[in-house]
Formats: sequence, C-alpha cells, structure tokens
Amino acid sequence: MKVLFAASEIHPLIKTGGLADVAGALPIALRKKDVDVKLIMPAYRGILEKLAPVKSSINLGNPFGCGDLILLETHFPESQTPIYLVQCQSLFEREAGPYLDQQGHDFSDNDVRFAAFSWVCAMITQHGRLIGWQPDILHLNDWQTGLAAAYLAAWRLNHPPVVTTVHNLRYNGSFPLERFDEVRLPHDLLSIHGVEFYGRYSALKAGLVYADAITTVSPTYAREILTAEYGDGLDGTLRSASYKLSGILNGVDYNEWSPSIDPYIHSQYDLHSIDLKLQNKLALQRENNLPENAQALVFGVVSRLTEQKGLDLIPAAIEPALQRGAMLILLGSGDKSLENQYLALQERYPEQVAIRIGYDEAYSHRLQAGVDALLIPSRFEPCGLTQLYALKYGTLPIVRHTGGLADTVFEEGHQANGFVFYHASVEDLQAALERSMEAFSNATTWRTLQIQAMTQDHSWERATEQWLQLYHSLLNH
Ligand code: ADP
Ligand code: GLC
Repeated sequence: MKVLFAASEIHPLIKTGGLADVAGALPIALRKKDVDVKLIMPAYRGILEKLAPVKSSINLGNPFGCGDLILLETHFPESQTPIYLVQCQSLFEREAGPYLDQQGHDFSDNDVRFAAFSWVCAMITQHGRLIGWQPDILHLNDWQTGLAAAYLAAWRLNHPPVVTTVHNLRYNGSFPLERFDEVRLPHDLLSIHGVEFYGRYSALKAGLVYADAITTVSPTYAREILTAEYGDGLDGTLRSASYKLSGILNGVDYNEWSPSIDPYIHSQYDLHSIDLKLQNKLALQRENNLPENAQALVFGVVSRLTEQKGLDLIPAAIEPALQRGAMLILLGSGDKSLENQYLALQERYPEQVAIRIGYDEAYSHRLQAGVDALLIPSRFEPCGLTQLYALKYGTLPIVRHTGGLADTVFEEGHQANGFVFYHASVEDLQAALERSMEAFSNATTWRTLQIQAMTQDHSWERATEQWLQLYHSLLNH
C-alpha cells in the first residue's frame, strides 16, 4: 500500500507544535508495518541541508504565477524515510518560521503558499506516473493541505481516496472571498456545501468536505467537535460528515522521549531507578538559579502560549501553592500579554518561579525530566503530546478534562496517573493544584502514581493498527 503523507511541518526538520512530532513519527511507524509511506512538505529555507542528497527533481510548472514549483525527492539520513520537498523560492525560502514572519504575523500570502503546496500534493496523487510512484491514498494534515482535496474534486477524475486528519480545528485556514481566485479553483466550489465559510473560504473545510475519511487525534475530541462549543463554526459540516469521522489517539516516539535514553537530560532513569529523577530536578533548579530543594513541588509548563492552552488561569491559581513553597518552571512563547503575566510572576517570586520565553527543544526535555508535575489546563486539546511525554518521565500531568487529555490522564481508579479538573476556572485549577500538593506530601502515594504513569504504553504501535484498518477500509470500498 502506497501512502503520500502531506504535512506543513515535520520533526526534526521544522516544528512549531505537535503536528511536527506526529508527521515525524507516524510515517516511520507505518513503514515498519510495510506501508510504503512517503512524506511531502514545502522546502523551507535550510531544510535540504538536513536531508540526504536530492535523488530526483521534476518541474511541475506553476498555475499560481510565482515561479516554478519543483518537486525534489530525497530521504531522511537516519530513518531512510523518503520525502518529497516542494521547492519554490518566492513562496517558501524565507527567514522565519513556516507560517509567521519575524514579527510574528501571518505571511500575507499564506493562502497562495499552501494552495501551491496542496496543488502539488493533488497533482502527484492524480498523476503518479509523473514521479513513477502512484499513491493509493493521500493523507492530508490540517488546513495547510486541505485544498489538495478540493483540487482533486475539481478535476472530476477518478482519484485515490483522501484522508484528512484534523490536529486543530481552531486554525481553519480561512481567507477573504476576494482572494479565492488566487487559488485557481472553480467558483462552483464556493457553496455552503463546499468551501464557503461565513463569507470567507476555508482550506480546512475543503479538506473535510472532499475527503473520503476524516480523523482527529483523539476519540474525545472527535466527539467534542460535533458540538457548537468545540466545533469552531465547522461543527455543522462535521455533523453532516460524521459517518466518515473517527478519532485515533496519537502515539509517542519513545526513541525521542524516554528518560532511560534521553541524551539531553542530566541523569537518565527508568521505572526501576525513579529515584534518579531527583538529580534532574536539582539540576533544573540549579540551571535556573533557583535554590536546590528536593521538598518543594516543582510545577512545569512546556507550551505554546495561546488561548487554547488555558495558561491565563495559572498565574492566579498558583499563588497559594507558591506561598506554600512550590515552584513553577515554564518554557513557552506566543501571546505577548501571557508572556508578560508570567514574567511579572517571576519578578514577584524570583526564588520560586523561572520563566523562559522562547522555543528550545533540548530544554523541553530537561524540563520534562526535572519537574514533578506538568500543568496543561487547556480549554480544548485535540490530543496533546506533552502529557504523554510527562507520563513516561514520571512527571504527573495536571490537566483539564478535554480532548486527548481526557483520554489519557486519570485521577480516579486503577489507571490513576495525574490530576484532572473540569471547569476552565481559577478555582477548579487551584483545587487540582491543592490535591497534587496533598499527594506529593505522601511519598508513597506520589510514587504509586509515578509508577502507574511510567507503565502506561502510548507507543505508536497501537495507533498504527487503527491506521492500517482505516487505510484498508478505504481501499476495499
Ligand atoms: P500543540 O501542538 O497544540 O502545541 P502538543 O502537546 O501536541 O501541543 O505538542 C507540542 C509540542 O511542541 C511538544 O513536542 C512540545 O514539547 C513542543 N513545544 C511546545 N512549546 C515548546 C517550546 N517553547 N520549546 C520547545 N518545545 C516546545
Ligand atoms: C495540534 C493540537 C494538539 C495535538 C497536535 C498533534 O497542534 O493542538 O492537541 O497533540 O496537534 O496532533
């Protein structure tokens, strides 16, 4: 079975969030199950240097009129996973991230940039002979690839089935109707049953409407997005498409995220040597010029600072815990006013709060290993990966009951591995923090939870079985 897996970010090439982790790991796990998966991503600046020498290159022209789109084939040096890169200097070779300029604003031509990427995905899916490899399935991820499904629909030819995975419904890739002509799609797609979205058009909606199957990254989020509360204006579309919607929980790449082999952390440990985790805590405190203190409960955060993550609740909720001696260590970037709130908290509690604004992969590992509990008070969370990493590191997640957090973190029963609150309120979070402090004060209770957390298996193995079933069901249709 041949699958073309399209994503706008792939770890370790380029990453802004969990999509990159998934795109960097799921294809490898599927290849181990004999699925012939090839990745495709835009050739952002500096990407080619991280890959093996280019094997082939094809000029596909460019209907968007901004320089030719060149398809390059290469592979990852370590895993050997094949990857196509879509090269177009004027669209993709820019300083800054994949979506935002150096000031943190969306590039003004993101519609055309990702339309062009999507068009290439559709072209080679429809005409596999161009590359000597005919995909049986096109697997799209998020809005940046959604228009590929619309191109295939617009060409009105038989084409391989399309799967769209929603990692985050909030980013719907919607643009003004006045710019619709830029993406070279026929106007008959612009209906409410097509890509029209509240007086705009949406690339994600295209991916939902024209896909043969829609998946999202946890069973709970798959149910939540059918409601107005979580549907972000697409719940109606999703309800009509619910017959083809399912939730498959993400996995973890334990080659990257295991304390027993993690090259970034101070002291490696596993289930049988959890005591060594303390060395990571003391090292993290030293690194942040906080007093070394084994007794203080250290809360951690590794997150994009956005409304989604509910991080505005923490500064107020955590005060009583800080007053009782707890610590907070945060790594994150995003919303400036949130950044400032955390920096202000650090100023008030310089001996207990350490805030690092920025993006730092290595430090995120040291933080996961060093803190006692990880705070994830998300308003919504399609899957969430940081709680899964935390579990493996014996770091207990404190989460709001939503999406993938609800599917993986439990406070009650034999699976208990963390702390769960229900309402996105300061009071509820504060109560959860108090329960965690109570548990921390009893070493046996805490250790039991840690063992439970570290024992749970979220490897990609289980998820790949579900992916295989879905792919097969589409081919046998
Ligand atoms: P989302 O994709 O919504 O941001 P996830 O929990 O699925 O949330 O994935 C976030 C990923 O990004 C994780 O791998 C996490 O470790 C990483 N991450 C988030 N913020 C930072 C940061 N400031 N520095 C390093 N890694 C980060
Ligand atoms: C998104 C979601 C996150 C999920 C990730 C990977 O960024 O916000 O919950 O874990 O995608 O699927």
